[in-house]
Amino acid sequence: IQAQFTEKKLNGKRVIVTAGGTKEAIDPVRFIGNRSSGKMGFAMAKVARDLGAEVTLITTVPASFAGMNIIQIQTADEMMQQLKDVFPKADVLIMAAAVADFKPMKVADQKIKKNDDEDIFTIKLTKNPDILQTIAATKTSQQFVVGFAAETQHLLDNAEKKLNKKHADVILANDVSQKNAGFNVDTNKVTLLQKGHEPINWPLMSKTEVAKKFWDLYLNK
Ligand code: CTP
Ligand code: CA
Repeated sequence: IQAQFTEKKLNGKRVIVTAGGTKEAIDPVRFIGNRSSGKMGFAMAKVARDLGAEVTLITTVPASFAGMNIIQIQTADEMMQQLKDVFPKADVLIMAAAVADFKPMKVADQKIKKNDDEDIFTIKLTKNPDILQTIAATKTSQQFVVGFAAETQHLLDNAEKKLNKKHADVILANDVSQKNAGFNVDTNKVTLLQKGHEPINWPLMSKTEVAKKFWDLYLNK
């Protein structure tokens, strides 16, 4: 079983992985973020590298892995910008990043001061672009795009909708209400959805094992 990962089966393939939660600026010292650790994306990137792929990791979480091109960004807009540059030449895109659905409408130039006579402070948010949907809409038949779906209920229904709406080839769905799956842990419990196939439930395993299983599936598709 180890042999398949010592062979460089992804030689010549260009793989892009996004990882981590986006940080949407409020003012020069504050942002809106989420609990994503970047671990699932990191595992996807490292296994692809070990299989010989040319990997670009676009991450909000600082990372210094050997043998891959690492681009650090903060916001969804920055992630989108980078992807527009690199996706046209890629073979595979893995959107493991937890992209914030909304960002502050305006970023204050100066640190926002609290006001003595106001106990409630309101920030108006505006929708971020859907990066996966926008980028996948441009993909050729040679390119392969993978999205994730983080759900706390109706996992299959919601993930199925994302598979169709976002033009993804695969959605890896995880029930993030479970303690050992999803955000900020080393393990994940994934259901794999593919157009025209029945969903496949993978057992609870380490994120590295999830990544190995995914790349194995990609290579045998
Ligand atoms: N995603 C994205 N751009 C966004 C929001 C999400 O590219 N603005 C991507 C994520 O990287 C992930 C997939 O879309 O691969 C699904 O993200 P998720 O948050 O589960 O779904 P949403 O479409 O944002 O829907 P909701 O949060 O309402 O469930
Ligand atoms: Ca979302």
